[in-house]
Amino acid sequence: MKTIAINQYGSAEEFKEIEMAKPQPKSDEVLVEIHAFSINPMDIAGRAGMLGSPFTDNWSFPLVLGWDFSGVVVEVGSDVEGYAKGDKVFGSASSSHSSDNGTYGEYIAVDNTELTHIPDGLTFDQAAALPIAGVTAYYGMKHNLDLQAGQKIFVAGGAGGVGLFAVQIAKAFGAYVATTSSENHRQLLEDLGVDEVIDYHKVSAVDVLHDFDAVFDTVGDVDTGLKVLKSDGKLATIATQPTEEQKHDQQKQVAFQFTYGTGADLDALAELVLNGKLKLMVETMPFSAENVIKAHQTIEGHHTTGKIVIHVKD
Ligand SMILES: NC(=O)c1ccc[n+]([C@@H]2O[C@H](COP(=O)([O-])OP(=O)(O)OC[C@H]3O[C@@H](n4cnc5c(N)ncnc54)[C@H](OP(=O)(O)O)[C@@H]3O)[C@@H](O)[C@H]2O)c1
Repeated sequence: MKTIAINQYGSAEEFKEIEMAKPQPKSDEVLVEIHAFSINPMDIAGRAGMLGSPFTDNWSFPLVLGWDFSGVVVEVGSDVEGYAKGDKVFGSASSSHSSDNGTYGEYIAVDNTELTHIPDGLTFDQAAALPIAGVTAYYGMKHNLDLQAGQKIFVAGGAGGVGLFAVQIAKAFGAYVATTSSENHRQLLEDLGVDEVIDYHKVSAVDVLHDFDAVFDTVGDVDTGLKVLKSDGKLATIATQPTEEQKHDQQKQVAFQFTYGTGADLDALAELVLNGKLKLMVETMPFSAENVIKAHQTIEGHHTTGKIVIHVKD
């Protein structure tokens, strides 16, 4: 199969087109022909050699990176229930996937707990944009912060892959939503219903937001979040480990969120897209080493709008 893989850790220019054998599904796995995959900051860390166990446990070179995918089931392991050849599916590869089994290739073998069916009305490109970023935002709002209608939430970094999902999911839950972004993202965020957009280059959120019920930090600035939060509020950060001091700030609940999404979370996200509550901001590029390099470089610049999806097959 065609893959875009690396032979050593390094810069985005390490990506090359490399022919590899198709992964073989185990009895509890399905083989999926990939139609699209999306790229996350985690992929950049993997490529640069900055991830450790469990991600790297089964890696050697050449290494096919990537976790988020959508595609069609082409083989079904003997112990798998609920999936059949021809099913359209999407999901995330296992955290500790092997070297030939990332998403930057034409096939992936995945455990039947790591995927769900694509509902009618959602394209392969849209579905591939949802898993890690969407589930992270959904898990944060629903399970971690337990966000309720009428509460006020500050999403630090509203224009990124996770941020754009977070602000919209928070609005769908009925919250008042404030966020930070660069000026070029203001209109988009306001059009999506965000109540207050702060250009963090000019104004500190600390100076304008007070007594918020919840903070969802996608940029790694826990101190700012803590100052915005009310005395018994909840803060979840996905971008840095809070210090012991930050975790023991009065009665505030402060936690790092590492997301373990489920198929049910993916189904809920797809439902939000289909009923118009979640708009997907996706830049799509055809499957080539050049485009994977370009996508990695763009994400490393830290100013993307939503998600970048690589389209593998119609
Ligand atoms: N723990 C987990 O489970 C988990 C899951 C997913 C992601 N993550 C992590 O979460 C972080 C965000 O992921 P992502 O996919 O959303 O990244 P991303 O798409 O690369 O984020 C880019 C966005 O960050 C914004 N930004 C950069 N610096 C900012 C600042 N100081 N204040 C406000 N906004 C700022 C930019 O907005 P402007 O262009 O408008 O400035 C841009 O839109 C990454 O560190 C990622 O590794 C963790």
